[in-house]
This record gives sequence, structure tokens and C-alpha cells, in this order.
Amino acid sequence: MEERDRWATKLGLILAMAGNAIGLGNFWRFPYQLASNGGGAFMIPYFVALIFLGIPVMWVEWTTGRYGGKYGHGTIGPMFYLMARESVKPKTALIFGIIGGMLAFSVASLLSSYYYQIIGWSAAYTYYSLTGAYFGKDTVQFFISYVTNTKAVIFFWALTMVILGIAVAQGVSKGIERWVKVMMPALYVFAIILVLRALTLGSPVKPEWSAIKGLEYIWKPNFQALSQNFFKISLAAAGQIFFTLSLGMGIIHNYASYLGPEDDVALSGIATVSLNEFAEVILGGSLAIPIAFAYLGPEQAVKGGVGLAYMALPNVFANMPAGQIFGAFWFLLLWFAGFTSAIATYNYLVAMLEEDIKLDRKIGTWVVFGFLFLLGLPVALDSSLVYLSELDMWVGSYFLVLLGLFDVIVAVWLFKPDNFWEELHKGAYIDVPGWFKPIMTIIAPLFMIVLLIGNTKDYYSMGALALHVSKAYVEGVLGGTYPDAVPIVLRARLVIIAILIIGAIEAYMAIKKKYGEELAKNEVIIKM
Ligand code: TRP
Ligand code: TRP
Repeated sequence: MEERDRWATKLGLILAMAGNAIGLGNFWRFPYQLASNGGGAFMIPYFVALIFLGIPVMWVEWTTGRYGGKYGHGTIGPMFYLMARESVKPKTALIFGIIGGMLAFSVASLLSSYYYQIIGWSAAYTYYSLTGAYFGKDTVQFFISYVTNTKAVIFFWALTMVILGIAVAQGVSKGIERWVKVMMPALYVFAIILVLRALTLGSPVKPEWSAIKGLEYIWKPNFQALSQNFFKISLAAAGQIFFTLSLGMGIIHNYASYLGPEDDVALSGIATVSLNEFAEVILGGSLAIPIAFAYLGPEQAVKGGVGLAYMALPNVFANMPAGQIFGAFWFLLLWFAGFTSAIATYNYLVAMLEEDIKLDRKIGTWVVFGFLFLLGLPVALDSSLVYLSELDMWVGSYFLVLLGLFDVIVAVWLFKPDNFWEELHKGAYIDVPGWFKPIMTIIAPLFMIVLLIGNTKDYYSMGALALHVSKAYVEGVLGGTYPDAVPIVLRARLVIIAILIIGAIEAYMAIKKKYGEELAKNEVIIKM
């Protein structure tokens, strides 16, 4: 078997994984989820989900990835196939491989199609901060005219993708690892500078408005608000845990596949979680919301929603001493965070071409570039953001959890809990406490099933599941205008279905190619 690329250093691996997890989710998505779900009410289910869902699934994905890497695979299809055949015949294992490969391919490509756009927005806003372009203007209007300015949107997005392509083309140890070793420390420095600034803002506008009030809003447990909206807040919190830790995307598995078979995954997995959570609750939590509390007041801060980072905060920078510099820091922080995450889905797609059709990495990188550019165009061209919102409804929350559930079904149940536990501890620097075993086998999957049911009910009542796209859904949920936005919603759904089909076929062919003989005989032959 040919040599697979491997992480050159432990530090590089940990920074790459932290970079993978720390993304727009930490600095953009977390604050608005927190703000729109009652602040201190959100944090309670958030930490529950971290322990019972986030940490166990993180370990499952690291273990699966390293196992697949041993056989030369960096994608989910073959990984799931290999693990599932410990309990079922190859022909049945193939089905699990196809489901996993299909979901991971869809997440990697569709999530990227809009997430890379938002990274592009932050490149643009870094520039607009430095030039003071939005200063003294209505920042909501400014945002709308930016997303309507298709040329600018495509320029900053394509620029981001070209830089991503350059990094990915250089490979894992020589490209990704070297880039994150520079970018991740820089990210922490930007974030810490901004946090220090946020916490020393005082009360610049009104004596009763301050950053500290914002911290109180986040950290004061609010059981009353939680009990009133228990299900909604819990779903949002668990969804955020999935998103921020990059779970259910295939990209933790992919990065872990570049480990040696005896390299630690137990301590490394928990280190990734810790670095991410520090960046999320400590750094991410001390930025957007406290800053908005000090300058815009509690009401505006809480109402900010998805627009908090790109519409409310620019208004703050415009009124802050040295706001051009701090604004640039903020958007550059978002760009770095997004970039080091985006590199992981990009690499997933390149690994697919490299391993499954033996395409040279450099060529594969630019094939993926073209593919992601095509997939991203409808996002860039739809300034109503309806297309983006519809994709996010399905991919950004639903598919992740579904893939996470299959992670456990395959890597723990079918691979068998004892084998899994042994595999997790191979070369491990720590012993995972025994009480995590029932969490991984029973509690985490139950948690995900409840989440999926909850989400389905939620979607049903919002009208997301109806084939007929209703006015209430388009206007109330996606924020578009009816009926103009209906074809956009339908187009998004068609694209999702097409990508799912391509993903399933790809996984089938990848597994068939390498394990065809096994499948024909329906007996395990290749075993390491
Ligand atoms: N965990 C990431 C975050 O918090 C999510 C993510 C990682 C992601 N890589 C990605 C999203 C690639 C889209 C595309 O933002
Ligand atoms: N309709 C959404 C809104 O409330 C648009 C949207 C969805 C959006 N996802 C987003 C805007 C991400 C900015 C970033 O504005």
C-alpha cells in the first residue's frame, strides 16, 4: 500500500483539529444562538449537551478516523463499511457505508457552499473596516447593499477560495499543518485583544448599558426562561454543540485518518473539545454580546439574531475610538476562524478524489474548486439569502445529527462496544472514565434520536416539511418574500437531493472498488 500523508507533529495536529472546530460557529453563530435563546437559559442545556453528546461523539469520530486511515481511507463511506462488517455481512455493511458517505459528502459540499460565502463576507468587512466604508452609514442598509452587490460578494468569496486551494494543494503535513501553525496562534491573539477591549469599554453610551451586563445575561442561570421554552432551547443548544465541534460532518474523521495507528486519540479528542470550548464560551462569549450590550443596549443586543456580527457590530465599531482597527480585528478574526475550518471540508473533498479515483492532489484541489464554485454561485446570486437559509435548515442542523447518530450505530454498536473501547484506548495517553461507556453506547444515541424527533416536529410545525412551500414558511422562517422566493426554495431542495444521490453513488463505487471481492463473496477478506 502506498504511504499516506501523516501529521508531522503533535502540536500541528492539535492546532489543525482546533482550527477545524473553532470557526464561525464560535464567534458568529454561538452569540446569536445564545442571545435568541435566553442567554443564561441556553447555557444549561449547552453544557449538558457538551458532556453527553459533544465529548462522546468527538471520541467516536477520532477513533473511526484513525481506524479508517489505517486502511488508507479518509472518507466516511469505506470507514463505516470497515467497521460495520464486524457485526454484519459485507453486503449489509455496504449499506451503512453508503449512508455515511452520502451524508458526509452532502455536508462537506453543501455546508461549504454557504459557509465559505460568510467567510467571504468577513474578508470584505475587514477591508470595509480599514477603509471606514460603513462608518456613519446605516449598517443594516450597508449589509443589504453589500449582499446585493454580486460582484463584490463573488470577488471576496473567490479570493478566499483561491487561498484555501493553495493551502490544500500543498497537502496535509506540508500545507494544512504549516498554515494552521501560523493562523491559530494569530487567531487567539486577535481574540484576546478584542476581549480585553470589550471588557474595558465601560458605559460609553448610557450609564446602565455595559459589557458586564452582557456577561451577566450569559452567565446568570435562568431556569425560568429555560422551563418556559425547554424543548426549543435544548434543541438549539445541542445543535450548536454539533456545529461548533464539527461533529457529523466527516471532517474530524478525515483529519484523524492522517494519524498513525498507535497515535493517541483519547487525550487529543478531549484537547480539541477544550480548545474549542475555551474559544467559544470564554472568547466568543465575551465579544459580540457584551460589546452589543455596552453600545446598543440589551434590547438590541438580544434582538440582533444572525445579523449581530455583520449588522449590529459594525454600528458599534463606527462609534468606537479606533473603531477602524478594532473592526478590522473582529472581521479578520472571523476570517481566520472560518478559513481554518473551511480547509477541513475542502480537504475532505480532495481526499475523496485522491483516494477513490487516484487523482493527483494538485489537480483534485482545482477540480474541487470548480465544484464548490458552481455550488456556491446560487448562494452568491441570491441576495435575499433564502437559498442560504433553506440549505442551512437541512444541512446545518439536520444532516449533522443524522450522521452523528450513524457514527455511534456503526463505530460503537456494529463495531461492538468492547472493540470500540479497546480501539479508543490504543496508544492512549489517558484512560477514559468507565462511566463514559454507557454514555457512548446508550445516552448519546438516545440524545440524538430525541433531537431528530424534536427537529422533525419543529420543522413540521414551521411548514418546512410540506412539499407545498407556504407563505408562512417563506416569510416567517426563511425571511423571503412570497411568492418570489418559492422557486429559490425548490431549487435549494433539488440541489440537496442531487448532492445526496451523487454522494451515495460515490460511496458505493469507492467501497466496491477496493472491497469488490469481499462483496462478491460476502465474506471478510481484507483485514489488518
Ligand atoms: N466547527 C465549525 C464552526 O464552528 C464548523 C465547520 C468546520 C464548518 N468546518 C466547516 C462549517 C466547513 C462549514 C464548512 O464553524
Ligand atoms: N432570513 C435570515 C435573516 O433573519 C437570513 C439569514 C439566514 C442570514 N442565515 C443567515 C443572514 C446568515 C446572515 C447570515 O436575516
